[in-house]
Amino acid sequence: MEKQTLLYEGKAKKVYTTEDERYYIVSYKDDATAFNGEKKGTILGKGVVNNRMSNIMCRMLEENGIQTHYVEELNDRETVVKAVEIVPLEVIVRNVAAGSFSKRFGVEEGTVLKNPTLEFCLKDDALGDPMINDYHILALGIATPEELQIMSEMTFKINALLKEYFDKIGVKLIDFKIELGRVDGKIILADEISPDTCRFWDKETNKKLDKDRFRRDMGGVEEVYAEMLNRVTK
Ligand code: C5P
Repeated sequence: MEKQTLLYEGKAKKVYTTEDERYYIVSYKDDATAFNGEKKGTILGKGVVNNRMSNIMCRMLEENGIQTHYVEELNDRETVVKAVEIVPLEVIVRNVAAGSFSKRFGVEEGTVLKNPTLEFCLKDDALGDPMINDYHILALGIATPEELQIMSEMTFKINALLKEYFDKIGVKLIDFKIELGRVDGKIILADEISPDTCRFWDKETNKKLDKDRFRRDMGGVEEVYAEMLNRVTK
Protein backbone atom coordinates (compact mmCIF):
# COMPACT_ATOMS: atom_id res chain seq x y z
CA MET A 1 0.00 0.00 0.00
CA GLU A 2 1.24 3.49 -0.89
CA LYS A 3 0.83 6.92 0.73
CA GLN A 4 -1.23 9.30 -1.40
CA THR A 5 -2.50 12.67 -0.14
CA LEU A 6 -1.60 14.12 3.24
CA LEU A 7 -4.94 14.15 5.02
CA TYR A 8 -3.88 15.56 8.35
CA GLU A 9 -0.70 16.65 10.06
CA GLY A 10 -0.85 16.66 13.84
CA LYS A 11 1.70 17.41 16.52
CA ALA A 12 3.24 13.94 16.47
CA LYS A 13 2.04 12.25 13.31
CA LYS A 14 0.90 12.58 9.73
CA VAL A 15 -2.00 10.69 8.22
CA TYR A 16 -2.13 9.89 4.50
CA THR A 17 -4.86 8.49 2.30
CA THR A 18 -4.04 5.37 0.29
CA GLU A 19 -5.27 3.90 -3.00
CA ASP A 20 -7.88 2.02 -0.93
CA GLU A 21 -10.40 4.31 0.78
CA ARG A 22 -10.80 1.86 3.67
CA TYR A 23 -7.24 2.47 4.84
CA TYR A 24 -4.90 5.27 5.89
CA ILE A 25 -1.16 5.28 6.51
CA VAL A 26 0.02 6.88 9.75
CA SER A 27 3.58 8.22 9.87
CA TYR A 28 5.02 8.95 13.32
CA LYS A 29 7.29 11.99 13.80
CA ASP A 30 9.97 12.82 16.37
CA ASP A 31 8.36 16.23 17.05
CA ALA A 32 7.13 16.70 20.58
CA THR A 33 4.79 19.32 21.99
CA ALA A 34 3.31 19.89 25.42
CA PHE A 35 0.87 22.28 27.09
CA ASN A 36 -1.33 22.55 24.01
CA GLY A 37 1.60 23.36 21.72
CA GLU A 38 3.25 26.01 23.95
CA LYS A 39 6.35 23.86 24.45
CA LYS A 40 7.98 22.38 21.36
CA GLY A 41 10.94 20.08 20.85
CA THR A 42 12.26 16.91 19.30
CA ILE A 43 12.70 13.53 20.91
CA LEU A 44 15.08 11.59 18.69
CA GLY A 45 13.73 8.17 17.81
CA LYS A 46 10.32 8.85 19.35
CA GLY A 47 8.45 8.16 16.11
CA VAL A 48 9.94 4.70 15.89
CA VAL A 49 9.19 3.90 19.54
CA ASN A 50 5.60 5.16 19.34
CA ASN A 51 4.89 3.36 16.08
CA ARG A 52 6.34 0.02 17.09
CA MET A 53 5.06 0.07 20.66
CA SER A 54 1.52 1.10 19.63
CA ASN A 55 1.38 -1.73 17.14
CA ILE A 56 2.50 -4.27 19.73
CA MET A 57 -0.19 -2.96 22.11
CA CYS A 58 -2.90 -3.02 19.43
CA ARG A 59 -2.03 -6.63 18.56
CA MET A 60 -2.18 -7.59 22.24
CA LEU A 61 -5.55 -5.87 22.67
CA GLU A 62 -6.95 -7.49 19.50
CA GLU A 63 -5.95 -10.91 20.87
CA ASN A 64 -8.02 -10.03 23.92
CA GLY A 65 -11.18 -9.02 22.07
CA ILE A 66 -10.67 -5.26 21.63
CA GLN A 67 -11.12 -4.04 18.06
CA THR A 68 -8.49 -1.52 16.97
CA HIS A 69 -7.54 0.43 13.85
CA TYR A 70 -4.29 -1.54 13.43
CA VAL A 71 -3.82 -3.30 10.07
CA GLU A 72 -0.14 -3.70 9.20
CA GLU A 73 3.24 -2.22 10.18
CA LEU A 74 4.97 -1.03 6.98
CA ASN A 75 8.28 0.05 8.49
CA ASP A 76 9.73 1.55 11.68
CA ARG A 77 7.66 4.73 11.41
CA GLU A 78 4.66 3.87 9.25
CA THR A 79 1.59 1.74 9.76
CA VAL A 80 -1.55 0.98 7.78
CA VAL A 81 -4.66 1.65 9.85
CA LYS A 82 -8.39 1.48 9.18
CA ALA A 83 -9.93 4.76 8.02
CA VAL A 84 -12.23 5.71 10.88
CA GLU A 85 -14.38 8.66 11.76
CA ILE A 86 -12.73 9.91 14.94
CA VAL A 87 -15.03 10.65 17.87
CA PRO A 88 -13.72 14.11 18.88
CA LEU A 89 -13.01 13.17 22.49
CA GLU A 90 -9.88 12.43 24.46
CA VAL A 91 -10.76 9.56 26.76
CA ILE A 92 -8.54 9.53 29.83
CA VAL A 93 -8.26 6.75 32.40
CA ARG A 94 -6.39 7.16 35.67
CA ASN A 95 -5.27 4.51 38.12
CA VAL A 96 -2.95 6.73 40.15
CA ALA A 97 -3.18 10.50 40.72
CA ALA A 98 -0.80 12.56 38.57
CA GLY A 99 -0.73 15.53 36.22
CA SER A 100 -3.89 17.58 35.85
CA PHE A 101 -5.84 15.33 38.24
CA SER A 102 -3.39 16.02 41.08
CA LYS A 103 -3.48 19.73 40.31
CA ARG A 104 -7.26 19.99 40.00
CA PHE A 105 -8.11 18.04 43.14
CA GLY A 106 -5.03 18.78 45.25
CA VAL A 107 -4.10 15.11 45.50
CA GLU A 108 -0.43 14.19 45.77
CA GLU A 109 1.08 12.57 42.67
CA GLY A 110 1.42 8.85 43.22
CA THR A 111 -1.71 8.47 45.35
CA VAL A 112 -3.36 5.22 44.27
CA LEU A 113 -7.00 5.91 43.40
CA LYS A 114 -9.66 3.83 45.14
CA ASN A 115 -11.19 3.14 41.74
CA PRO A 116 -9.92 3.72 38.20
CA THR A 117 -11.47 6.91 36.89
CA LEU A 118 -12.61 8.02 33.45
CA GLU A 119 -12.76 11.52 32.05
CA PHE A 120 -13.54 12.97 28.66
CA CYS A 121 -12.07 16.08 27.08
CA LEU A 122 -13.42 17.69 23.93
CA LYS A 123 -10.77 17.55 21.20
CA ASP A 124 -10.52 21.22 20.31
CA ASP A 125 -7.12 22.95 20.34
CA ALA A 126 -8.67 26.44 20.13
CA LEU A 127 -10.66 25.78 23.30
CA GLY A 128 -7.73 24.03 25.02
CA ASP A 129 -9.42 20.59 25.05
CA PRO A 130 -11.91 21.35 27.86
CA MET A 131 -13.20 18.60 30.10
CA ILE A 132 -16.69 17.51 29.11
CA ASN A 133 -19.18 15.28 30.91
CA ASP A 134 -21.55 12.56 29.66
CA TYR A 135 -24.52 14.92 29.54
CA HIS A 136 -22.58 17.49 27.52
CA ILE A 137 -21.52 14.77 25.07
CA LEU A 138 -25.15 13.73 24.57
CA ALA A 139 -26.38 17.35 24.46
CA LEU A 140 -23.88 18.20 21.71
CA GLY A 141 -24.63 14.99 19.80
CA ILE A 142 -20.98 13.89 19.92
CA ALA A 143 -22.03 10.31 20.66
CA THR A 144 -25.25 8.38 21.18
CA PRO A 145 -26.10 6.97 24.65
CA GLU A 146 -25.25 3.47 23.35
CA GLU A 147 -21.89 4.64 22.01
CA LEU A 148 -21.10 6.42 25.25
CA GLN A 149 -21.72 3.24 27.20
CA ILE A 150 -19.64 1.16 24.80
CA MET A 151 -16.80 3.72 24.91
CA SER A 152 -16.71 3.68 28.71
CA GLU A 153 -16.84 -0.12 29.00
CA MET A 154 -14.25 -0.59 26.28
CA THR A 155 -11.90 1.95 27.83
CA PHE A 156 -12.02 0.28 31.25
CA LYS A 157 -11.40 -3.12 29.60
CA ILE A 158 -8.40 -1.64 27.74
CA ASN A 159 -7.16 -0.26 31.07
CA ALA A 160 -7.39 -3.67 32.74
CA LEU A 161 -5.53 -5.37 29.87
CA LEU A 162 -2.82 -2.71 29.67
CA LYS A 163 -2.34 -2.61 33.45
CA GLU A 164 -1.81 -6.37 33.57
CA TYR A 165 0.52 -6.30 30.55
CA PHE A 166 2.71 -3.48 31.89
CA ASP A 167 2.80 -4.96 35.38
CA LYS A 168 4.46 -8.06 33.90
CA ILE A 169 7.25 -5.91 32.45
CA GLY A 170 7.81 -3.98 35.68
CA VAL A 171 5.85 -0.87 34.78
CA LYS A 172 2.98 0.85 36.61
CA LEU A 173 0.32 2.27 34.30
CA ILE A 174 -0.52 5.56 36.03
CA ASP A 175 -2.90 6.98 33.42
CA PHE A 176 -3.40 7.21 29.66
CA LYS A 177 -5.37 8.89 26.90
CA ILE A 178 -7.02 7.21 23.95
CA GLU A 179 -9.20 8.23 21.06
CA LEU A 180 -11.92 6.08 19.59
CA GLY A 181 -13.36 5.98 16.10
CA ARG A 182 -16.35 4.67 14.18
CA VAL A 183 -16.03 2.16 11.37
CA ASP A 184 -18.93 0.13 9.91
CA GLY A 185 -21.13 1.35 12.77
CA LYS A 186 -18.71 0.05 15.40
CA ILE A 187 -16.58 1.88 17.96
CA ILE A 188 -12.91 0.84 17.81
CA LEU A 189 -9.65 2.01 19.37
CA ALA A 190 -8.05 4.43 16.92
CA ASP A 191 -4.99 5.83 18.66
CA GLU A 192 -1.42 5.22 19.70
CA ILE A 193 -0.51 3.72 23.04
CA SER A 194 2.93 5.11 23.77
CA PRO A 195 5.05 7.10 26.23
CA ASP A 196 3.51 10.21 24.60
CA THR A 197 0.01 9.26 25.68
CA CYS A 198 0.51 7.17 28.83
CA ARG A 199 2.22 7.78 32.15
CA PHE A 200 4.52 4.88 32.93
CA TRP A 201 6.45 4.58 36.22
CA ASP A 202 8.99 1.89 36.99
CA LYS A 203 7.41 -0.54 39.47
CA GLU A 204 10.44 -0.67 41.77
CA THR A 205 11.79 2.89 41.66
CA ASN A 206 8.84 5.00 40.41
CA LYS A 207 11.20 6.44 37.77
CA LYS A 208 9.15 8.21 35.12
CA LEU A 209 9.37 6.40 31.77
CA ASP A 210 7.23 8.73 29.66
CA LYS A 211 6.70 12.19 28.18
CA ASP A 212 6.58 13.87 31.60
CA ARG A 213 10.40 13.89 31.36
CA PHE A 214 10.04 16.20 28.34
CA ARG A 215 7.15 18.23 29.81
CA ARG A 216 9.05 18.82 33.06
CA ASP A 217 12.59 19.16 31.62
CA MET A 218 13.82 16.16 33.59
CA GLY A 219 16.37 14.94 31.03
CA GLY A 220 16.90 11.37 29.87
CA VAL A 221 13.90 11.59 27.55
CA GLU A 222 15.24 9.58 24.59
CA GLU A 223 16.61 6.96 26.98
CA VAL A 224 13.26 6.20 28.62
CA TYR A 225 11.43 6.01 25.29
CA ALA A 226 14.05 3.51 24.11
CA GLU A 227 13.74 1.63 27.41
CA MET A 228 9.96 1.31 27.08
CA LEU A 229 10.30 -0.11 23.56
CA ASN A 230 12.98 -2.44 24.84
CA ARG A 231 10.73 -3.69 27.64
CA VAL A 232 7.76 -4.39 25.34
CA THR A 233 9.86 -6.15 22.70
CA LYS A 234 11.73 -8.44 25.12
O1 C5P B 1 -2.29 16.08 31.74
P1 C5P B 1 -3.17 15.00 32.27
O2 C5P B 1 -2.83 14.58 33.67
O3 C5P B 1 -4.64 15.35 32.14
O4 C5P B 1 -2.92 13.74 31.32
C1 C5P B 1 -3.53 12.48 31.58
C2 C5P B 1 -2.98 11.44 30.59
O5 C5P B 1 -3.44 11.72 29.28
C3 C5P B 1 -1.46 11.42 30.52
O6 C5P B 1 -1.03 10.07 30.37
C4 C5P B 1 -1.13 12.20 29.26
O7 C5P B 1 0.04 11.72 28.65
C5 C5P B 1 -2.36 11.91 28.39
N1 C5P B 1 -2.71 13.03 27.50
C6 C5P B 1 -2.47 12.92 26.13
N2 C5P B 1 -2.81 13.97 25.30
C7 C5P B 1 -3.39 15.07 25.78
C8 C5P B 1 -3.64 15.20 27.16
C9 C5P B 1 -3.30 14.14 27.99
O8 C5P B 1 -1.96 11.91 25.67
N3 C5P B 1 -3.72 16.05 24.94
